[in-house]
Amino acid sequence: MSAFAAPKGIPEYVPPDSAGFEHVHNTLVSAADRAGYGLIELPVFEETALYTRGVGESTDVVSKEMYTFADRGERSVTLRPEGTAGVVRSVIEHGLDRAGLPVKLRYAGPFFRYERPQAGRYRQLQQVGIEAIGVDDPALDAEVIAVADEGFRALGLTGYRLEITSLGDTESRPPYRAMLQEFLAGLPLDEATRMRAEINPLRVLDDKRTEVRALLSDAPLLVDHLSAASAEHHAAVKQHLDDLGVAYVENPRMVRGLDYYTKTTFEFVHDGLGAQSGIGGGGRYDGLMETLGGQPLSGVGFGIGVDRTLLACGVEGVRPWSTARAEVFGVPLGDEAKRRLVVLAGRLRRLGVRVDLSYGGRGLKGAMKSADRSGARYALVLGERDIEAGTIGVKDLVSGEQRAVALDAVVAEVAGLLQA
Ligand code: HAM
Repeated sequence: MSAFAAPKGIPEYVPPDSAGFEHVHNTLVSAADRAGYGLIELPVFEETALYTRGVGESTDVVSKEMYTFADRGERSVTLRPEGTAGVVRSVIEHGLDRAGLPVKLRYAGPFFRYERPQAGRYRQLQQVGIEAIGVDDPALDAEVIAVADEGFRALGLTGYRLEITSLGDTESRPPYRAMLQEFLAGLPLDEATRMRAEINPLRVLDDKRTEVRALLSDAPLLVDHLSAASAEHHAAVKQHLDDLGVAYVENPRMVRGLDYYTKTTFEFVHDGLGAQSGIGGGGRYDGLMETLGGQPLSGVGFGIGVDRTLLACGVEGVRPWSTARAEVFGVPLGDEAKRRLVVLAGRLRRLGVRVDLSYGGRGLKGAMKSADRSGARYALVLGERDIEAGTIGVKDLVSGEQRAVALDAVVAEVAGLLQA
C-alpha cells in the first residue's frame, strides 16, 4: 500500500482513462474556439474578497465551500471556486473592454469547492468555460448556449436537456422578491426555511422536499413578472434558439448557486447522472462588472463540468476517443537494431506519427506484448538478420500479417499506411 493518497474527493485521471478526459476537454474547448472565444489563463487563487463580493456572501459556494487561507504575507486568498469573477476582474484590470466589444474569452482548468464528495461531486472539479462581456444582445446569449450544446453534440451525447429561464433585471427583481416573500410568509414553513425566505426567497423555490414543493405549487414565478425589457430579451433568446434548432425546456423554478445572475439563466441536465445531474450551466450577469469596480457592462457565459460530462459519456456508452499511446511501436532485437530504431522513431515522429519503442533489451515476446499494450497499429521488428538484408519487418497488429520492407523506404511506407 502506498503511504500517501490523493486528497479526498478529487478525481485523478490516469492512462488509459485520461484519454477520455482529454478528449472531452479538447472537444468543449474547440467548440468555444470555433465561435471566436480567445484563451484566458487565470490565477488558480485570488484575493478572497473577489469571490465574496462577486459570487455573493449568502451563496453556499462562498459561505460553506471555499478553500480560504492566509498566505505567508497574511493576505486572505481563496482557491478559485468558479471562473466568472476572475475573468471579469482580469478584463477590468487589463482594460480588455477598451478594445472592441464583446470581449469573448474561454478558460479551462481546476476549480475548488469544499463539498461533500460523492459520485460526480468533487472538491477539485474541472470546467471549460466561456464569457462574452460588453454587449447586451439576446443573440449572444443564444450563441453561448449553442456553443455548449455544440460541444456536447460533438461528443455524441444525446441524453441531456437544456433548461432555461429568466431571472429578470434590476427593475423586475425587487417587486417580485417582495411578492414572493409575502406569499412565503403565509406558508407553514420551518424556521430554517423561513430564514432562507428572508435572505434569499428565490432559493426557497428550489427546495427539494416533496412537502415543501407541494406548498410552493402556487408560488408566484419570476418569469411571469418580468419587466417589459426582460420579457422581450427572454423571448428573443428563445427565438434565436428555435432558429438554431437548439431544443430547450423552460424551468421557471431554476435556482443557480451563484448570486450574479440576471435575465437568461440555463442549465444542461443529464438524466443518467443521478443527483449530480448538472453537466453545465450559466447565464447573464449584467451587474457583476460594476460590482467589481469596472464600467457597467453586461456579460453572459457558461461553465461546463468536464468531470460530469465524462461521466455522462460513460453512462451513454459514447467513447469517441482512442486510448492508444502510439501508432507505431518499435521492437529492436539487439543493440545495432536499437540504434537504428531510435533513429527511425525520431524520423517518424518528425512526420507527425506517434511512435514508442521497447527499451531495456527485452526479448521478442515481451516487446510484442508492450506493442499490443500501447495500442499501436504497426510494429517495426528489427533483428540482426534484417539489418544484413537491409530490411525491417512491418507487422500489422490488427491482422497479424508481417512483411519485409526496405530499411530506407520504411519511414515513407509506414507514414503512407497510416494516412490511407
Ligand atoms: P456552476 O453551475 O457553479 O457555474 O458550475 C458549472 C458546472 O461545473 C456545473 O454545471 C457542474 O457540471 C460543474 N460542477 C460544479 N461543481 C461541481 C463539483 N463539486 N463537482 C463536479 N462538477 C461540478 C459556474 O461555475 C459559473 N461560473 C458558470 C458561468 C460562467 N456562469 C456565467 N459564466
